[in-house]
Amino acid sequence: ADGDAAKGENEFKKCKACHMIVADDGTEIVKGGRTGPNLYGVIGRTAGSVEDFRYGKGLEAAAEAGFVWTEEALTEYVVDPRVWLDAQGFPNQSKMTFKLRKGGEDVAAYLASLTGE
Ligand code: HEM
Repeated sequence: ADGDAAKGENEFKKCKACHMIVADDGTEIVKGGRTGPNLYGVIGRTAGSVEDFRYGKGLEAAAEAGFVWTEEALTEYVVDPRVWLDAQGFPNQSKMTFKLRKGGEDVAAYLASLTGE
């Protein structure tokens, strides 16, 4: 992918109101809110798979289908989650109403860089 991880780290300020980044060993990389799931390791992870997080119908269906997040998919998702779910053929019911109009590829590169995916 072609995102800039350094720019993405800065852009993640827009995400942390709802998303934390906490490593598997409990290391807090970004202190964030709990409205959304932990985004540590999200690239390469099955969508809708954080245990104990109550996803909406769309990501629940993505999980059942075994959909795995790539930098490309995440970049498209954050532009408009509901539209993305619909385009994938999943129910277009999203609990994430936030939209990131540009720079999604940078955030994706940043998230990927944290786990070397
Ligand atoms: C879900 C990314 C901003 C609330 C997700 C998922 C990703 C993501 C990749 C799916 C995770 C998974 O499948 O486990 C981002 C990024 C953001 C951002 C990169 C910033 C650019 C926000 C904000 C909010 C939010 C600001 C709250 C206002 C949620 C919620 C879900 C979610 C509630 C679950 C969606 C559902 O179950 O339908 N986000 N997010 N996100 N996000 Fe965000």
